Amino acid sequence: MLTVTLFANVVLVSSHSERSIEILNHDATVIDCARYKREANQHKCVITPFTTEGPYFLPDDYERSDITDGYTGVNLNLTLLLTNAKDCSPLSNYYVHIWNANAMGHYSGVKEFNFFDHPTFRPKPINNLRFLRGYQITNEDGLVNFNTIIPGWYFGRCIHIHVEIYDKNTTDGHAVSYIGQLYFNREMPAALKLIDPYSQNNNELTLNDQDIVFALSRGSDTILELIPEGNGYSASYVLSIDPTVKVENSVLPFEDPRNVSFIEH
Ligand SMILES: *[C@@H]1O[C@H](CO)[C@@H](O)[C@H](O)[C@H]1NC(C)=O
Ligand SMILES: *[C@@H]1O[C@H](CO)[C@@H](O)[C@H](O)[C@H]1NC(C)=O
Repeated sequence: MLTVTLFANVVLVSSHSERSIEILNHDATVIDCARYKREANQHKCVITPFTTEGPYFLPDDYERSDITDGYTGVNLNLTLLLTNAKDCSPLSNYYVHIWNANAMGHYSGVKEFNFFDHPTFRPKPINNLRFLRGYQITNEDGLVNFNTIIPGWYFGRCIHIHVEIYDKNTTDGHAVSYIGQLYFNREMPAALKLIDPYSQNNNELTLNDQDIVFALSRGSDTILELIPEGNGYSASYVLSIDPTVKVENSVLPFEDPRNVSFIEH
């Protein structure tokens, strides 16, 4: 039986421990679609690594680009390009949800460390706050843009931004096109520690290489490259998916969605 300690200082026992967490070869790297477009006759694309939704997604987030709701931190202007892994063509009219913790390491609207209240899937909202959550619809170029902040840390996880994508206006956890997490350089938390309000975040720090979710989802492939912009940073990332498959969602990282079930449609 597989046991892991995760998110809270508790031991969780998987009911799906028979599932393998083998990483499929075709998921091994993240492609640079712009490069493949430049190099004529190349149509070799690779699917961006998937991971778990985790316990804090709220399906009733708002359609908006600026998700900060006044929560301060290091500004991050995040642009995501969604492409078809078959030919690197942009995917338009997809619903891209992101959510991340605030500088103090808290998510809006949820009771954190909620595994025993909602051990299977998605928490019930505890209030109407939805800071640092939102969705955008990809335009004809496959692009969405968000203004968020670099997230703070919380027990058991390195800093990350969640991404979840649907091909229509639904949040049906059985009809997900992509679920992933975007990461930062290993040194980022130490730099954030020096500035307010992150300096007041006393949660135990977990670095990239200490995080089981990062390891299982090849997190080093989804680290954002930050470019200084204004009083913060901008970052662009190409997400490449197979639009002909749906991912069965999961809450725990060892239920690797790639191995749960792909539903042809
Ligand atoms: C965010 O980045 C996009 C794409 O680079 C740019 O067009 C936009 O002006 C930036 N937004 C802000 C608020 O700086
Ligand atoms: C998507 O559906 C939700 C829930 O029905 C609705 O509130 C929202 O306005 C819809 N968004 C778009 C872009 O149609």
